Amino acid sequence: MRGRLLIVVFPCFFLMVSACDMSGFSSEPARRMIKKKCTICHSSNRIYDQARSAGEWDRVVLRMERHGAFLTDKERAIISNYLKDGYGR
Ligand code: HEC
Repeated sequence: MRGRLLIVVFPCFFLMVSACDMSGFSSEPARRMIKKKCTICHSSNRIYDQARSAGEWDRVVLRMERHGAFLTDKERAIISNYLKDGYGR
């Protein structure tokens, strides 16, 4: 019985999460974080002007940290997931 409930709940949860993404609801904190953390040295146009693969985004974010961007583990995860979802290829 419990197993069957999980089978129903899981897809619903994923649907809810992707519905949030489509409405742009959940992307707002990530965009604010990028504005705060990533536009100290260059404008956000530099970030949003090009689609990159997931691996490329990981490398870009790590390179920015070497340049001097300061990100906590949580911020790094939120920012790179957002960029991979919205500006991936
Ligand atoms: C300490 C300064 C600094 C901060 C903070 C910074 N960047 Fe950069 N960024 C640079 C410099 C310098 C370059 C150009 C050299 C390069 O591409 O490595 C650059 C270039 C870029 C590029 C273009 C790369 C390319 O291949 O053309 C992207 C995308 C980018 N940054 C994203 C980000 C993101 C996302 C963040 C926030 C996590 C961020 N940057 C924060 C300094 C910074």
